[in-house]
Amino acid sequence: MSANILDGKQVAAELIEDIRQAVQHRLATGRRAPGLAMILVGDNPASRVYVSNKERACARSGIRSFLHILAPDTGQSDLLDLIQTLNADPEVDGILVQLPLPTQIDSGAVIEHIDPAKDADGFHPYNMGRLALSLPGFRPCTPRGIMTLLERTGLPLAGSDAVIIGRSNIVGRPMALELLRVDATVTVCHSRTRDLDRKVAGADIVVAAVGRAQFVAGDWIKRGATVIDVGMNHTAAGTLVGDVDFAGASRRAAWITPVPGGVGPMTVATLLQNTLDSAAARDPLENR
Ligand code: GUN
Repeated sequence: MSANILDGKQVAAELIEDIRQAVQHRLATGRRAPGLAMILVGDNPASRVYVSNKERACARSGIRSFLHILAPDTGQSDLLDLIQTLNADPEVDGILVQLPLPTQIDSGAVIEHIDPAKDADGFHPYNMGRLALSLPGFRPCTPRGIMTLLERTGLPLAGSDAVIIGRSNIVGRPMALELLRVDATVTVCHSRTRDLDRKVAGADIVVAAVGRAQFVAGDWIKRGATVIDVGMNHTAAGTLVGDVDFAGASRRAAWITPVPGGVGPMTVATLLQNTLDSAAARDPLENR
């Protein structure tokens, strides 16, 4: 068996085109373009790449982006002041603080300072709590993007056995909440999990978000499973690989995401979706 590719790059391009048309429609009907403010503190090279990808996607879709680059030694109170200004800015529908932040800044305090109604990343405890309760709200971009990809397989999610490897606040935990919401049976694995290979072997859906190159062996994968690889790891040879042994897993899975070109583009497209949704929620009632 050779797995079908879940082409995140293609699906993301379709989503961005839909968003572009929705933005054009907003403008044609006298409404403003959505606005996304992004804050980058310091000079983490990976963060710079992620932020410039997000800027480019905004430009493609017609969403206005406002990038704030702050010095690596920025104090927490200066960052909170900037967020306060953006919370009050009527042109800004979404506020994103790129993580990780330098060590002198408490990320939790920063995330809690963002107006939950502008929390395009969905990381605020208010929105995470709403997701946990299956209530509408902003949903973290990577897990929401993965749900969009899973829906594209046409496979039933209700009753499926899903194994998530990783319990981060950005991916693993909200991914578990997303899959519970659609009635999957969810197992969250992490660094203290025993017999990981056996747990993965029982899974219809595997979401790997560990951050270790090719950590998930191909022969762990159940035949016919769907494999979602969130990893982005640089090898010593300078290539980008995921958390899953792609070649091995492809021989057993029915569906698999490539790295690059799988989950990464979906995260960016979903951020635009969240920003557009936020702008729509802020429209006067008669325009919604
Ligand atoms: N760092 C890694 N992924 C993300 C993300 O989705 N959003 C933000 N703000 N920072 C990140």
